[in-house]
Amino acid sequence: MAQSDTSARGDETNVLAHLDGTAMSGLYWYLALLACIGGFLFGYDTAVIGSVLSFIPYHLSNFWTGYLVAGASLGAAVGALAAGPLTDRLGRKSLLMADAGIYALGALLSAFTVSAAMLITSRTLIGLAVGADSAIATAYIAEFAPKSRRGQLSIIQQWMITVGILASYLIALLVFAVAPGAAKNVDWRVILGLGAVPALLAVALRARMPESPRWLIQQGRYADTSVALGKLGVEVSEEEVRRTADKIEKAEEQQAKDRKRLWTPGVKRALAVVSVFFVFQQITGINVPFYYGPKLLGDLFKNPGDTAVHAAMAGLIAAAILGAVNVVATYFGFRWIDKIGRKPLALAGYVGMAAFMLVAAAGVAWLTGTPKTVVVMVGFSIFIASFAMGVGGTGWLLQGEVFPTAVRGRAAATGAGVNWVANFALIEAFPAMQAAIGLPWVMVILSALSLMAIGFIARFLPETKGLSVEEVVAVFDEQAAESHVQHGSSARTA
Ligand code: BGC
Repeated sequence: MAQSDTSARGDETNVLAHLDGTAMSGLYWYLALLACIGGFLFGYDTAVIGSVLSFIPYHLSNFWTGYLVAGASLGAAVGALAAGPLTDRLGRKSLLMADAGIYALGALLSAFTVSAAMLITSRTLIGLAVGADSAIATAYIAEFAPKSRRGQLSIIQQWMITVGILASYLIALLVFAVAPGAAKNVDWRVILGLGAVPALLAVALRARMPESPRWLIQQGRYADTSVALGKLGVEVSEEEVRRTADKIEKAEEQQAKDRKRLWTPGVKRALAVVSVFFVFQQITGINVPFYYGPKLLGDLFKNPGDTAVHAAMAGLIAAAILGAVNVVATYFGFRWIDKIGRKPLALAGYVGMAAFMLVAAAGVAWLTGTPKTVVVMVGFSIFIASFAMGVGGTGWLLQGEVFPTAVRGRAAATGAGVNWVANFALIEAFPAMQAAIGLPWVMVILSALSLMAIGFIARFLPETKGLSVEEVVAVFDEQAAESHVQHGSSARTA
């Protein structure tokens, strides 16, 4: 069975092989960028709330204040899980357009909020959009990208996330600098509402992007597939598409009879690997400097006697420095992902994260004054740079590339859902952990978790660079079959 699966996948690459082998053109970059505008909003909308929270004039209980920050992550988990079955049924493009619309609506409602309940509702909407978008963006890219550039094109998503985070700090700084006296009335509305601009742009531009050719062929829409491939620079007739589809169908006939067969042991293994990768991506602490950074670092940077707005601005400057490091370092991930590969980059990333989280912890624990500020900032900067080069984008890339087309939406969405739940868990747990054992010990635990991630990656993550998405699926199938044989034989020896 495993044998025929693999050869079927070889055949499947007929017209898709053209796509895999096409030379990169400006259009591919443009489409990837369009797919990733949601990434920009993911970064912007998750980071922006920290900058405005102190100036929102409603009386909110601790629970609802916490919800405004972490609730977006929880909403994102729901959005991701809901997007999976929808995108497998309705397509990638329609969902990407709907997300952009929800993003825009959420941002506009936040800006024109008249009550706490309305703000909470609009932040929930934004959370749903963030999650849905994160579930689909790299899957859409993986379905059209030439295989030798799939890593780079998918890392654009991470890059846009980092640019969005940085933009949120810079825009908040600018708005507070222009109108420091209006922090509690107009400023926070402008800062939240500006997210509507890229969102509306995305609605307009995404309307003209081609639907994913792999999804169309999977749906039996051959004429549409040939049009979509044409837009991507691959001229094939409807008949050629049909012939490819026939081959795929024959190969999958057996599996199609029983829908459960789509979730083969290889797919389940891929889902487990992506999910654990995402759990480590989050619980090793990347969002501690990003979500709590303005507050934690503001205390290090502010001057005695600063007003609330100036103290907030001091924190934002520190966070913006880290945000800029994140953007620049992601460029190296982008450069290296298809050359060095996913696995070595992720391993190196976690080594850097483990080491420099400890450096920052030492700074917090043992130093004071300027040396403390310098050591903490250097520690956090290299920690973030290591994440950006090897871990952040790699997670979202793997989520898009390791599943077969028929279940990619659902499987990728489940992975994204796991990411958001882990994100929420750490952000919720962090203040309590800090209160219980102190910041330096929390940081030591985060560093130890990075070490555990190294063990997991070394043992379970296969290298997928340069393979077609169909070949990637085969790698996981083979691994699952091998581990089945190994377990079988160890059970027999026992
Ligand atoms: C993570 C986010 C994080 C961001 C930082 C992403 O890959 O999923 O949680 O805020 O990277 O750049």
